[in-house]
Amino acid sequence: MARLVLFAFLTVVLTLSRGDDRPNFVFFVADDLGIGDVGCFGNDTIRTPNIDSIAAKGAKLTQHLAAAPVCTPSRAAFLTGRYPIRYGMAGRDLPMAFVQLAIPSGLPRSEVTLPQLAKDHGYQTALLGKWHLGLNCAWAGDHCHHPSDFGFDYFYGLPLSNGLDCDPEAKQTIGQYIARLLYRHLRLWEISTSIFVVILALKYFKYIQWKTLFLLSTFGWSLVACPYVALTNGRRLNCVMMRDDDIIEMPFNISTITPRMTLEAVRFLQESKTKNEPFLLEVSYWNVHTALVPYKEFRGKSRHGLYGDSVEEMDWSIGVVMATLERLGLTDNTFVYFTSDNGGHIETGEEGGSNGIYKGGKGQGGSEGGIRMPTVVQWPRKIKPGTVVTEATSQMDIFPTVADILKAPLPQDRVMDGRNILPLLGGALVTSPHEFLFHYCGGHLHAVRYMPREGNVTWKAHFVSYNWDPGTTGCFSLRICRCAGQEVTYNDPPLLYDVTSDPTEDRLISVGSDPRYPIVIDVIKKAVEEHVDSLTEVENQFGVSNFIPRPWLQECCNFPFCDCQENVNLSSLRING
Ligand SMILES: *[C@@H]1O[C@H](CO)[C@@H](O)[C@H](O)[C@H]1NC(C)=O
Ligand SMILES: *[C@@H]1O[C@H](CO)[C@@H](O)[C@H](O)[C@H]1NC(C)=O
Ligand SMILES: *[C@@H]1O[C@H](CO)[C@@H](O)[C@H](O)[C@H]1NC(C)=O
Ligand SMILES: *[C@@H]1O[C@H](CO)[C@@H](O)[C@H](O)[C@H]1NC(C)=O
Repeated sequence: MARLVLFAFLTVVLTLSRGDDRPNFVFFVADDLGIGDVGCFGNDTIRTPNIDSIAAKGAKLTQHLAAAPVCTPSRAAFLTGRYPIRYGMAGRDLPMAFVQLAIPSGLPRSEVTLPQLAKDHGYQTALLGKWHLGLNCAWAGDHCHHPSDFGFDYFYGLPLSNGLDCDPEAKQTIGQYIARLLYRHLRLWEISTSIFVVILALKYFKYIQWKTLFLLSTFGWSLVACPYVALTNGRRLNCVMMRDDDIIEMPFNISTITPRMTLEAVRFLQESKTKNEPFLLEVSYWNVHTALVPYKEFRGKSRHGLYGDSVEEMDWSIGVVMATLERLGLTDNTFVYFTSDNGGHIETGEEGGSNGIYKGGKGQGGSEGGIRMPTVVQWPRKIKPGTVVTEATSQMDIFPTVADILKAPLPQDRVMDGRNILPLLGGALVTSPHEFLFHYCGGHLHAVRYMPREGNVTWKAHFVSYNWDPGTTGCFSLRICRCAGQEVTYNDPPLLYDVTSDPTEDRLISVGSDPRYPIVIDVIKKAVEEHVDSLTEVENQFGVSNFIPRPWLQECCNFPFCDCQENVNLSSLRING
């Protein structure tokens, strides 16, 4: 009997301790935040104490790279551990990210994602905030690209993104601007009169029936009118918030999104703790993508206008989540990761933030400023406080790292581009697990990083460079640099730098006089060949026709008004910016 009791007791203890042993995951993802905007990365005028604290208690990654320089493909790569070009998420040219909700594109269902991996291992998973990886395929509400199809049990946030046309105070939205350009030359009155005359003539000579006539004219008119409606009503149609499958706010009120998400995060953590279930939580901020509309308590509090206010609002929110983990006794065994999806949008000026010492920014896949992300990680059980990882790592590494932590096998039927960086974070390894990293701009390979297995050099070869406006490292006249065509320069021979000793890429390795040049470029060219060979033909989610909004894919609450608001009592957060 005593033995039986002891056995039962041991079983319970073992089960409990096993439950406790499974770490939790919290991923914070910022939008368009530059590496120069964070305290622990050298900014001394924006206050980010909570991000800095993660770095101090864990690791700071100074060469952590996004797989793409814009939101949609970068986030796809983070969730899948694979280059976007492998599954059709790399655009050939602009736009390189989804700009409308009513389009059929999205992350293909065949991809295996991080939350899916965790969910398969019994984790509670949630996405709070921005998704930006598609929503519908065939009709509004089919939700074939919804976060719940990719392993998230709970979704509260933005199926698309902030920005674009979401600013309630904007005098003229980008959509309205484009509409004006497009339709200025299209004399609507004259066109409609001509169509009317043609139709009447057809009818008069009895070429068509009334029914056909009606269908034809409806079709013709929708062709002209739909894009117009979509462009001029961008705020209502795209600035949408959802809870799971429901539209809860349309158009959304940006200023309250971060506090509301924070409230949701606190609730999610408390519930997971009560249920004693391990969890994976992604908190994906709209901050600091324009339009910058921080909550009133944060307005005017920073030294860098609305941009600084938005960074500090996000940092506050991170602080609330971290304090909640602490209060619930979860800090010790939670893997916390903070990063940004791409660099600051320097062409936006003061509202675009800073990429520190690095050249270029958002949209430039080959420039450090576009892809070198402010990244910190904390997991007291495995990572020593104050760790600094200067080796090249990628956001795609988080997938295999989480797989390693969960002791889950990696998918065997596809190429995985990320590598496990746990040994690097824990100090067991000091060199990058990558020999090569490929830097894409849309579907175009612009640069390649090569980390020879011996030595302390990080070679970076630029096959394509941007035609920056003189004296800058951006394309201000275009608002964002292009990936191909006349707006770029094809470098033959490629430009070569050592970004370990020359992170700002100012000292060109000489083609003629440096004996290392031909050797290194030769190795890199072979690697490119192998990489290109590993790509397969897939359906392109960025085809031009995919970007024509479909009325039947448009989500709408309170039909036909497409107007609804969520009422939330934020007073429990006790916000004081
Ligand atoms: C957004 O919410 C805040 C706080 O509730 C409110 O003061 C503000 O008027 C709202 N803005 C819009 C555009 O509805
Ligand atoms: C801090 O960030 C602000 C806003 O992006 C920027 O203007 C400033 O130059 C940054 N400071 C440093 C030291 O990088
Ligand atoms: C690289 O290693 C060599 C030899 O170990 C050393 O002399 C050199 O200073 C190192 N360079 C850098 C940038 O760390
Ligand atoms: C909001 O919640 C607080 C408690 O957290 C409560 O005191 C207050 O009355 C609530 N306000 C409204 C308008 O419901």
